[in-house]
Amino acid sequence: MRILAFDALRAVDERDAYANLVLPPLLRRAREQGDFDSRDAALATELVYGTLRRQGTYDAIIAECVDRPLREVDPPVLDVLSLGAHQLLGTRIPTHAAVSASVELARVVLGDGRAKFVNAVLRRISQHDLDGWLDRVAPPYDEDPEDHLAVVHSHPRWVVSALWDALGGGRAGIEDLLEADNERPEVTLVARPGRSSTGELLDLLGEEGGLPGRWSPYAVRLAEGGEPGALDPVREGRAGVQDEGSQLVAIALAGAALEGRDERWLDGCAGPGGKAALLGALAAGRGAALVAAEKQPHRARLVERALAGNPGPYQVVTADGTRPAWRPGTFDRVLVDVPCSGLGALRRRPEARWRRRPEDLDGFAPLQRALLREALESVRVGGVVGYATCSPHLAETRAVVDDVLEARDGSFGAEWIDARPLMPGVPALGDGPDVQLWPHLHGTDAMYLALLRRTA
Ligand SMILES: C[S@@+](CC[C@H](N)C(=O)[O-])C[C@H]1O[C@@H](n2cnc3c(N)ncnc32)[C@H](O)[C@@H]1O
Repeated sequence: MRILAFDALRAVDERDAYANLVLPPLLRRAREQGDFDSRDAALATELVYGTLRRQGTYDAIIAECVDRPLREVDPPVLDVLSLGAHQLLGTRIPTHAAVSASVELARVVLGDGRAKFVNAVLRRISQHDLDGWLDRVAPPYDEDPEDHLAVVHSHPRWVVSALWDALGGGRAGIEDLLEADNERPEVTLVARPGRSSTGELLDLLGEEGGLPGRWSPYAVRLAEGGEPGALDPVREGRAGVQDEGSQLVAIALAGAALEGRDERWLDGCAGPGGKAALLGALAAGRGAALVAAEKQPHRARLVERALAGNPGPYQVVTADGTRPAWRPGTFDRVLVDVPCSGLGALRRRPEARWRRRPEDLDGFAPLQRALLREALESVRVGGVVGYATCSPHLAETRAVVDDVLEARDGSFGAEWIDARPLMPGVPALGDGPDVQLWPHLHGTDAMYLALLRRTA
């Protein structure tokens, strides 16, 4: 099982693979080979995800325990050390078991010589618990708050800085947010209206198996270990797996007041289709039709799958939202859930925080502006545009909307709509008119939504 965890870490390191894609086939193969049950699978998953999430903290600790710079330690050796550090400092596995299992792993995958090195380093690590190590390796908060938080909560410093800028406030809030990023998120389902209901899902799950959502009237939260694929409504596409934050974005766009025609809705960045499927169901309930556009053909196919069986009219098109194939002013409601850094979904992708670079933001910036501009062109006067990201980074959220509104050249007029009343019952939505959700405050991904009305 530790070899499996090691193989997964190597794939993430070496091939830039995603842990959530690499692990399932490895687990399946292990199960097929026998002698591997669901508890082993849960432990292997926890070891891989935990090691990746806490990598920043463990690197700082390992650096104290080896006699050379970390970059001179072979990556496979570092992976074994990180896995061992996680067992020692981040799980309840007894010290002797964590060390001996890690040394045994090193013997198998690295050879006897390097196993001795692993043994020596892990014995040093085992001399203190996590808090003891953090006192030793994290710079004092008063001297360098961002560096302190980066080491203690295992995020790159620039990410700490960007999240703090977006969140505002003092130490307690940012610490809660960073810790929430290190927790495994609950699995949330959406009962697509007109196709399924929360009652149906809760009945199927039984008392122990699920709870109603916190904020979305269509959400059901799955109990730990629940298997969404085991539910008929999910298999049949009448329900799906969807974070409540994403549900709230679609619900708010659909709920914004509109005068006159309300028949044509557009999801301009639809792949893989989570929001499109909810929007399609909501549109159907009102006799409106949804066009779901996606630039990547393989992702457009996923949108097709997500929308199959939608109770109202819809069309999936492979199209570049920056060069729309439809006439200006065609739609009554438009969503653009633009490509972004994903810094709001770090709970889901344990390796993502280490892969992203600040320069990535510059890469997304022109596309985000172009997609919002074209969304405003595509909506009729009086219609509503929702601009959404799964990132709270200010350069991807408010700055984009402000820039587009400022730079318009008279081709359209637009005004802000206060999005907060469109998420009734959701607390701590800030000063508006846009909305930023947070994992530590709402239990959702850090989704951002700006709603605009075209005025001219
Ligand atoms: C954040 S994802 C959208 C997630 C989706 N709304 C959902 O809820 O499932 C952004 C999508 O925009 C697509 N995209 C990127 N550039 C695009 C463009 N120029 N026009 C249309 N879609 C684009 C990406 O391929 C990606 O599928």
